[in-house]
Amino acid sequence: TAGVTSNSNGTSIIRRKITSLVGFSNLPAQYHRKSLRKGFDFNVMVVGESGLGKSTLISTLFDMPLTPPRTPASSAAAIARTVAVRSISSELEEDGVKLRLTVVDTPGFGDQVNNDDAWRPIVGNIEQRFDAYLEGENMNNRTKVSDTRIHACLYFIAPTGHSLKAIDIEVMKKLHHKVNLIPVIAKSDILTDDEIVTFKARIRADLEYHKIAIFETPRYEIDSNETMEEKTSIMSKIPFAVVGATAEVINAEGRKVRGRKYPWGVVEVDNEDHCDFLKLRAMLVKNYMEELKEHTDEILYENYRAQKLVAMGFSQDQSVFKEISPSTKLEQDRIQQNARLQKMETEMKMVFQQKVSEKEQKLRRSEDELFARHREMKQQLEKDRRELESKLALLEQERYAYTEEKNVKKKGFSLRS
Ligand code: GTP
Repeated sequence: TAGVTSNSNGTSIIRRKITSLVGFSNLPAQYHRKSLRKGFDFNVMVVGESGLGKSTLISTLFDMPLTPPRTPASSAAAIARTVAVRSISSELEEDGVKLRLTVVDTPGFGDQVNNDDAWRPIVGNIEQRFDAYLEGENMNNRTKVSDTRIHACLYFIAPTGHSLKAIDIEVMKKLHHKVNLIPVIAKSDILTDDEIVTFKARIRADLEYHKIAIFETPRYEIDSNETMEEKTSIMSKIPFAVVGATAEVINAEGRKVRGRKYPWGVVEVDNEDHCDFLKLRAMLVKNYMEELKEHTDEILYENYRAQKLVAMGFSQDQSVFKEISPSTKLEQDRIQQNARLQKMETEMKMVFQQKVSEKEQKLRRSEDELFARHREMKQQLEKDRRELESKLALLEQERYAYTEEKNVKKKGFSLRS
């Protein structure tokens, strides 16, 4: 069977279902094999007020302690408070599939009197990771670029039962263009079912009002097993009301479950009737991890990269900055800088030439003056010499006349005597 269609470029595409075996139907299996060998990277960040159970929830999600095992001296202490952005990497394996998981734990805000800049270290960390990736992409050996970009950000909302706090709105506004935001209601075991329903509705209204974009499950079908119903049911639970617990307790039916034990009963983590933990895990890990990574790469990172290029002085025209890489920009900067230096050098040479010729003229002028003075003095001396010579000749004449006269007088005196 074959059908002909045209794509947007006007090229005809023949759609044909072949019956013989060519072999490319094996591509997914090849991809699967390659993925098993290479493993997957996934980087998740947790953000929110201090003490909302961020570290506990991550440990619950990936079923491993987030912090290294405690020494006997510290084991009595509760989970340590996070005071700086810290990144913890672990290599997990499930059914032969390797996952290199990095959790970026951020300091819980809300402790300080002034929380105006609470978002800064968080956004700074996200941007640093984008920058590192951008740099890696522009290096000659691109195959070694490791992806440390944040693929998902779990935003913890305090279980106040009211609505979003001003600080949550501010921080989320700073984050939503840079990461896939997944809002969760922390420690939801302290709220009743009705309170959770109302709280969720208020949070959703706040997010919509402030135009804060959260990660959404893709609108297209990912695989045949996935149903639209499943997708809708995951999205309908946002913000996920979660409970974190790593310890196992015995529930009412006598089964060992992960949960929190209270005098009135047990809150089970992995029970859909008790909280949305499983829905969160479906979105973050089981169903949409690849989409979270794809959205980070194709939308969030691309936007950041484009803005960075604009900041570096490129035109807003998308078609322009898609084609110019930062290394080309650096090369252009270098050429411009060289041209500027050359222009400066030529100008300096011209100024130098001008100064030299001015000096030469001045020297020539003073040399002429010196010659003139010298000539004048020489003439004066010649004149003086001539005057003296004529005076001397006159004196010579007078002396001769006087001697003659004296001789005549002497001769006359001797004759008389
Ligand atoms: P910072 O690193 O200081 O920001 O704290 P955090 O948000 O990482 O909180 P952490 O996981 O350290 O938990 C703080 C306390 O809350 C601990 O005593 C946990 O046992 C408790 N806790 C964690 N999750 C839950 C939960 O879902 N419900 C309740 N009731 N308590 C929780």
